[in-house]
Amino acid sequence: MNEQEIIDAENRLMANVFAKKPVVLTRGKGALVWDVNGKEYVDCTSSYGVALLGHCHPKIVEAVCEQAGKLISCHAGFYNDKRAEFLQKLTSITPKGLSKAFLSNSGAESVECALKLARKHTGKPEIIAMMGAFHGKTMGALSATWDKKYREPFQPLVPEIKHVPPDNLEKAREAVSEKTAAILVEPIRGEGGIRVPPDGFLKGLREICDEKNILLIFDEVQTGFGRTGKLFACEHWNVVPDVMCLAKPLAGGLPLGATVAREDVMSSFKVGDHSTTYSGNPLVCAAGCAAIDVLIQEKLPERAATLGGYFKSELEKLQSKHRTVKEVRGLGLMLGMEMKFDVLNTLLKAMDKGVLVLDAGRNVLRFLPPLVISKEQIDKALSVLDGVLEEEENARPSGAPAN
Ligand SMILES: Cc1ncc(COP(=O)(O)O)c(C=O)c1O
Repeated sequence: MNEQEIIDAENRLMANVFAKKPVVLTRGKGALVWDVNGKEYVDCTSSYGVALLGHCHPKIVEAVCEQAGKLISCHAGFYNDKRAEFLQKLTSITPKGLSKAFLSNSGAESVECALKLARKHTGKPEIIAMMGAFHGKTMGALSATWDKKYREPFQPLVPEIKHVPPDNLEKAREAVSEKTAAILVEPIRGEGGIRVPPDGFLKGLREICDEKNILLIFDEVQTGFGRTGKLFACEHWNVVPDVMCLAKPLAGGLPLGATVAREDVMSSFKVGDHSTTYSGNPLVCAAGCAAIDVLIQEKLPERAATLGGYFKSELEKLQSKHRTVKEVRGLGLMLGMEMKFDVLNTLLKAMDKGVLVLDAGRNVLRFLPPLVISKEQIDKALSVLDGVLEEEENARPSGAPAN
């Protein structure tokens, strides 16, 4: 199929739920991807945070090829060597005490499991989530997601999930009732605009949960696995949740979600309480084992911290140069640049010049590059962005409202 045929086929045959960019990507290596015409792009999206180890990491490719020739499918009703190995590796890196996992296939599923687990463990129905949060779009996860545009067409949602203002311990405390099972929070809000909480917020939530005897659930689907400069974002504040949701990069690009909990919490689930046919699929677990090895051996969290510090300081330089930049935020290689205008045009122009960047809401540019990105590739992204921002500003008379 040529470029136009591919675009036509997807538009005609696939549910129209994604805001498509007009590019057909067919190949990737490290932090670079190529389109069907051979044009090269620096990827500052990692496919929405998935390709954290870089595209087609040779260790992932090798592990997948080897396992594909052995056993691809094995329901969790049977035991499997790769699943056991992955569980061992996973629980050897998760924060202390989070020692038992349910394996699924996506971020939303990892949240669904956490919500059910909280209800089963406490016998209570209510979940407190944050305004501005994003937890996915299946019915349970969607009920905890904040944005009205995602929620409203699908009412009624799962009941007893309420939202409180983020970064506000007093409101969180007030919201806890006799019916509360858990507080669910992203340590750093991703889709919500790369919002880092004030020091003391997560610790304060931990204290509230301990005091009220309810569960603390961290959704680390986007922040986990080294992205923010630590293995898990909660480590920046030394707070350990009772349940942690993981997905996106966990299997080096293959679909894998994990809900990891304290042993006594996960043990509240009994046979039949929760399942998915693909739970702990051997092919995906083989990739997951390789992904954890690569993450540790290549010291990628440390790399995210160092390169992220550089990337952020260079974005701050752009902020001082360009009047339309409002704020630069983030930790490690999870960075956001809030603009005074809608960023869609900026994304498309950057793409045209060979750099892929994400948005987070209407006016935040979001950078989630693979952690293997080089300084030179970051410099290329920055120089393209600099040029695009200049063009955007020239198109807007000085002092005029952004839009
Ligand atoms: C924090 C967070 N939780 C959950 C999800 C949902 O993950 P998925 O799209 O794999 O269902 C996302 C996706 O962006 C996310 O960022």
